[in-house]
Amino acid sequence: MYILAIETSCDESAAAIIQGKRGKVKILSNLVSSQINLHRQSGGVIPELAAREHVLNLLPIIDQALKKAKLKPSQLRALAVTKGPGLITSLLAGTETVRALSVAWQKPIIAVNHLSGHIYANFINHPKISFPLISLIVSGGHSSLVYLKKHNSYKIIGETRDDAAGEAYDKAAKMLGLGYPGGPIIAKLAEKFKQENKKTKLSFPRPMIHSTDLDFSFSGLKTALYYQLKKDKQWSKRKADYCFAYQQAINDVLISKSLRALKKYKVNSFLLAGGVSANLNLRKELNREIKKKNKNIKFFAPQLKYTTDNAAMIASASYFHYQQKKKQAFTPWQKLKAKPNLTLS
Ligand code: KG4
Ligand code: ZN
Repeated sequence: MYILAIETSCDESAAAIIQGKRGKVKILSNLVSSQINLHRQSGGVIPELAAREHVLNLLPIIDQALKKAKLKPSQLRALAVTKGPGLITSLLAGTETVRALSVAWQKPIIAVNHLSGHIYANFINHPKISFPLISLIVSGGHSSLVYLKKHNSYKIIGETRDDAAGEAYDKAAKMLGLGYPGGPIIAKLAEKFKQENKKTKLSFPRPMIHSTDLDFSFSGLKTALYYQLKKDKQWSKRKADYCFAYQQAINDVLISKSLRALKKYKVNSFLLAGGVSANLNLRKELNREIKKKNKNIKFFAPQLKYTTDNAAMIASASYFHYQQKKKQAFTPWQKLKAKPNLTLS
């Protein structure tokens, strides 16, 4: 079956077409129209501007996605769309477009939770991931540990109490004058520092690392950076050092909580997901630490192009959702509503 998916929960307008066949997802087209340059000027996403851009971008990228996949709308089995969580004005651009296309093309809609999309980015390359599993979703808006007994069965076992990991990166980059989004730039400078075999004398807190629950807190880390920068007159000459120490603090907490979750829940697989899963240092260290503790747990992370927001991951989630529920996976266009605070359930 062919599915066209649309993702507009934040600042990427994305459209993708997949072919789902015998439990496997094949990507036929995957277009992302990034608004990074627009939001770079303000150091973060301005919702009103993001929504306007989505409205302008969506139809052209949907058209391109169909052309690239060499398909006509009549060949699609369903339209998938992100229902939430995200910025309401951004989400509405996607859901309203899909409602209109559903009526025009007479196609059913599969509404997808953005976070399940991040998890299912892993299934694009690894359709045979075995359950039960734990997924660590780390993005600009979320840091969550989720337990899945089977497809589409979500139990949140840990969450951030304040800032998300990606937000911690973005805010730090702003303080260090490095631009937006912060994660990729900080990761690059941290790697440079490491390659030069330098040792850092900076120390950042590891918030909640010793608490017995599986929750996170990252806002204190950003405050710690703020006060260190205030004390250090030479900070602008040591940016790479700051990036290295800051990244290590975030990764230490993410790894420690993931290992704690794996102690508590017996699973076959661990899936890293979300924009922060593009962090190569996190991938390497988390994989190594999981292997050290339990060789039988398989570690997965999405291919880099499916880590940050894209529509292929939404299409993938919708396909596995349909596989499970068949026509019950469909939402009539009259009932489709964007939900900015949608939770995984
Ligand atoms: O999943 P995503 O594209 O959007 C949300 O759903 O929020 O994640 C974006 C986040 C941003 O905060 C960005 O700084 C972070 O992912 N990110 C990274 C890296 N690449 C993107 N964080 C750390 N290291 C990276 N290489
Ligand atoms: Zn995302």
